[in-house]
Amino acid sequence: MKTAASLVIAAATLVMGTPVWAQFAKPEDAIKYRQSVMFLMSQHVGRIGAMVSGKAPYDAQAAVDNAALVAELSKRPWPAFVAGSDKGAIPTRAKTEIWVEQQKFKENQEKLMAETAKLLEAAKTNNLDNLKAAFGPTGGACKNCHDTYRKDV
Ligand code: HEC
Repeated sequence: MKTAASLVIAAATLVMGTPVWAQFAKPEDAIKYRQSVMFLMSQHVGRIGAMVSGKAPYDAQAAVDNAALVAELSKRPWPAFVAGSDKGAIPTRAKTEIWVEQQKFKENQEKLMAETAKLLEAAKTNNLDNLKAAFGPTGGACKNCHDTYRKDV
């Protein structure tokens, strides 16, 4: 039985080729992965935002810690936008344009990674004004991509 089942799987793999979401067991895993990273990123951006807007006291070390995490997380959602994950067993707000305009979508990713790297540098100066100056462009990079590639709810 076991051998028969493996043969069927092997045959199916030969026919279909390796699925493009091979890193993920199913499309919905890729969707959940990118949504989870985005959610985490927004939580940590929010903590910096609270300091920038004066809703939370400025804590230089916390700013560095949060900015370091955001800079790292900003690299992570992209491999999860695999072809075939424009829909899955769970809802996704990713627009199908992502898979049509791949170069433009990539430019939006690069913009975010560049801005979060600058945000981290700014945080490391331990100066709230520098942090404030770098925060706007980071938020802008999130917004620009969402305006173009994320469906409204
Ligand atoms: C290159 C494009 C792009 C950039 C840049 C980007 N996002 Fe997103 N974001 C998306 C897309 C597309 C989705 C929808 C993902 C899905 O539902 O599959 C999304 C979803 C989200 C969500 C909803 C997650 C959930 O729980 O469903 C949050 C929160 C979010 N982004 C926050 C951010 C923040 C904060 C930044 C900036 C620090 C950012 N995003 C930068 C494209 C982007």
